Amino acid sequence: MKLRWSRRGVLRAGAAAGVGLLGSRSAAALGAPAVHTRRAQGQRPLVISSANGLEACNRAMEMLEAGEDTLDSVIAGVNIVELDPEDTSVGYGGLPNEAGVVQLDSSVMHGPTRNGGAVACIEGIKTPSKVARLVMERTDHVLLVGRGAQEFARMHGDEIETLLTDGARLRWLEWKENLSDRDDWFPPSSGVGDFPEDDDFTSFYREHGTINCNAVAANGDISGVTTTSGLAWKIPGRVGDSPILGAGLYLDNDVGACGSTGRGEANLLDCCSFLAVEFMRQGKHPQDACLEVMRRVEHKTVDPRLLREDGTPNFSVNFYALNKKGEFGGANFRPSRFAVNDGSGSRHVDSAYLYER
Ligand code: GLY
Repeated sequence: MKLRWSRRGVLRAGAAAGVGLLGSRSAAALGAPAVHTRRAQGQRPLVISSANGLEACNRAMEMLEAGEDTLDSVIAGVNIVELDPEDTSVGYGGLPNEAGVVQLDSSVMHGPTRNGGAVACIEGIKTPSKVARLVMERTDHVLLVGRGAQEFARMHGDEIETLLTDGARLRWLEWKENLSDRDDWFPPSSGVGDFPEDDDFTSFYREHGTINCNAVAANGDISGVTTTSGLAWKIPGRVGDSPILGAGLYLDNDVGACGSTGRGEANLLDCCSFLAVEFMRQGKHPQDACLEVMRRVEHKTVDPRLLREDGTPNFSVNFYALNKKGEFGGANFRPSRFAVNDGSGSRHVDSAYLYER
């Protein structure tokens, strides 16, 4: 059943998207991006990222061209976005959980040392990707969470800072005050502020931003990083796909890398980045590997809450992959873009997709 927002409440719009709708998926178009995005492929060094990573790709490419390590390069790239208060999906300025607290997730993998590290639900640290790398390099563990992760960062000299910007706090407050007309939180006027009245819960109120960035160096070494503030207004303690190796990020230095943004819960159910790398190991082009993963997610999506009336998934999840040769590709359910830098500046390219609309 679709939830639709009115001034202070939720209207139920349309009939329930019920059982038996999956058959209509066959009507959906299978899309692939323009051929030119493939013609330019096979170059090293190469950096790819989610669409919010144009600057991150530029920074990472500069470092790769200067001969720096692949992981240092991609982390320096995503640090730009983690530290940007205007990006409300990553690091400082990220939208908080339902209690108004910013909790961050991040993971890194370093191909040459075949190692990885991650942090989840970490508070007060602007650049969780650096803490994930410290977990990898300075402990025998792979994943630290919550207070333990924060304390670990503090012991390595990180300052504990306020991550909630005024902009993010005001958006949280608007969400809180317009959540229900049967609670004790009132908006400042009878309206919903600047929110479009026809916006629905999934498209506007529940943002899943994230940045994933992967690189292959001239010598074929591969690294990747994923970092996020996760799902806006999430239940405190919720961990998404980003810090889970195999889901939000996975790579094998012999094969390639894959990372993800979007609805983490959908990715977690199939460890999709691991799956994409395994498809590449079997010989699939990165774009075809990502499309195959989208089909797997589609197959798993049977809950009517997550389906449009035509039976197709109502959420977004992106995969971005590259291989050791320097070929790359991305996929989503619907048309989408990602960022690429093959040495001639960062640009957006089209992802492959399953449905036109
Ligand atoms: N993909 C980011 C998240 O779901 O938290």
